[in-house]
Amino acid sequence: LGEPLVLGIETSCDETGIGIVRGTTLLANTIASSMEQHARYGGVVPEVAARAHLEALRPTLDAALAEAGVTLAELDAIAVTSGPGLAGALMVGVGAAKALALALGIPLYAVNHLVGHVGADLLHAPDEPAEPLALPTVALLVSGGHTSLLLVRDLANDVELLGETIDDAAGEAFDKVARLLGLPYPGGPQIDRAAASGDPTAIRFPRGLTAPKDLVRHRDDFSFSGLKTAVARWVEAARDRGEGVSVPDVAASFRESVADVLTAKAIAACQRLGVPRLLLGGGVVANARVRELAQERADAAGITLRIPPLSLCTDNGAMIAALGARLIAEGHEPSALDFGADSTLPV
Ligand code: KG4
Ligand code: ZN
Repeated sequence: LGEPLVLGIETSCDETGIGIVRGTTLLANTIASSMEQHARYGGVVPEVAARAHLEALRPTLDAALAEAGVTLAELDAIAVTSGPGLAGALMVGVGAAKALALALGIPLYAVNHLVGHVGADLLHAPDEPAEPLALPTVALLVSGGHTSLLLVRDLANDVELLGETIDDAAGEAFDKVARLLGLPYPGGPQIDRAAASGDPTAIRFPRGLTAPKDLVRHRDDFSFSGLKTAVARWVEAARDRGEGVSVPDVAASFRESVADVLTAKAIAACQRLGVPRLLLGGGVVANARVRELAQERADAAGITLRIPPLSLCTDNGAMIAALGARLIAEGHEPSALDFGADSTLPV
């Protein structure tokens, strides 16, 4: 004991996440998702997400406190995602965090959502030994909202953006391709399932931003909109020819392109930077081929691959709490209460 009891609040997208940690020990990780409300639109609707956060926050907080077996009065600090994400959604979490911190008279730490994903790797279950996060590490964060490659030297103040998507996020690409194949939202798990019985070499889809001539903002940027268009054109052409479209083959070939680009770039960054560690985060980490190829390539390159449990890879409050606890442990000052939600907050 002696370690701080920290509440984490995450509302940057469609998950209302409340987590409670004591130092690096995970005590509660409660999530309410508004995903079903977005399904008929084929993507997250910001206004709907913000309202859903407002409704879900209190019950999710109560559930987390019950799960951890603690009361609000016992909390030592609060950490909240202040960005990046959907502005209205972020505001709900930031407002709630400020109100709680003021009412309880405890410090508040505003944290970056992407760095929070890295913080997920700090956590261990109460019956598991603590395992220090080895830094520096390269982190590949892939979800419906972001596709970012980071070099993390220090969680508090030294996180470098190596690259990010210049158009669609990887998860978004899965969702869009699923939609054009007639599969329901969210499409990632659907494509993954369909791909299991398909041939990944059936169609050679493009690998975005892998040619040296490609114009990019950052060295390790990603692009998935060309791939999505290529799949759409291929499906259209097959139908025009009156040929049947094998959904498993298209899904497997598309999945192979995404997994190939993601893992090749992440491993190449590790090798270029001399960092023998790669951490994965975000909902797309659930993808079977992404996991398999990441492991295969990491092993071949002598790189240690870290993948937190999936419940800590998707958006959650526990990773935010973990990052807050880390900042406290390292003696960082809490945030002044005049910070706001910042939808484009850089790392
Ligand atoms: O991290 P997450 O739960 O939420 C945010 O986007 O913030 O990620 C959800 C995204 C969706 O785009 C979903 O389609 C994708 O992750 N996803 C997958 C898989 N499971 C979820 N993508 C590919 N393969 C999967 N198995
Ligand atoms: Zn996320």
